[in-house]
Amino acid sequence: MIDVIPTGAALGAEIRCGDVRRLDDGATATIRRAWLDHLVVVFRGQDLDKAELIAFGRRFGNLHFGTRRPAGMMPRDENFPEINVISNVIENGLKLGNLGYSEALWHTDRSHQEKPLSGSLLYALEVPPEGGDTSWANMYLAFETLPAAMKDRIAGLTIHHDAGRDSAGAPRADFKGTGAHHPIVRTHPETGASALYLGRRGNTSIDGLPEKDSDALLDALWAHATRPELVWTHQWRVGDIVVWDNRCTIHHRTAFDPNDRRIMHRLQVDGTRPFMDPNALSRPAHARIGSAAPAT
Ligand code: OGA
Ligand code: MN
Repeated sequence: MIDVIPTGAALGAEIRCGDVRRLDDGATATIRRAWLDHLVVVFRGQDLDKAELIAFGRRFGNLHFGTRRPAGMMPRDENFPEINVISNVIENGLKLGNLGYSEALWHTDRSHQEKPLSGSLLYALEVPPEGGDTSWANMYLAFETLPAAMKDRIAGLTIHHDAGRDSAGAPRADFKGTGAHHPIVRTHPETGASALYLGRRGNTSIDGLPEKDSDALLDALWAHATRPELVWTHQWRVGDIVVWDNRCTIHHRTAFDPNDRRIMHRLQVDGTRPFMDPNALSRPAHARIGSAAPAT
């Protein structure tokens, strides 16, 4: 009774399962499998209150508690601290949430942490008529489609993820310390396949390389990782839930008219420390779907 309908692009699938409040454990296993296979899964037409959204999010793992809101932002709802509001709306002089209305650059969530988040979920409550679309790119395929010499070159390297700013460029209120160092090629702890793990272009550098060489290598990897054939874009409707895997995807959001309203409720799933298993490097990605798959 659960239909998984791949987008036909390099990643992403819609899951048709009716009301997500009614899923049993068997259905949860099917959905988790589809999430690992397709990297991003979409559920449409849902109508959940905060408690129901949290109950659904827990099916993907332990939920991360959102950070406290900075001054000028509506305090979080302490009854549901897992929910982080993503919004451009300002009411009574207070921002409802994070990330505003301008473009959010390509990134994966909280790679500056020692244990970055494994998954993220957005639930659309209000969406603008135009813009505010979110795209994801498949980092298994990004790794697999690198030239062999480039794979060899980056296999032992690590990136310093120094995220003083969020994906909208705003200083991170809760950021302390110097960020984390993670392997550029990450072994997915559940699928065992290798993915490029770039974090975000700003505030990153490759450990041990002169700045010029680090910038050149990162620019080349980013150009490769964001090629259109690796990307799928979602146009939101109210009631959509999208859950993505931060371990093997990057995402970005287009800008929209500041006079339009966009309100999302976000949940994030705790993750584990990234690692690279050298034996995994030649193992094909579990999720090899869509036209971007390399010929074998
Ligand atoms: C996020 C994020 C993009 C969006 O919440 O981590 O990047 O489309 N959001 O709101
Ligand atoms: Mn994000």
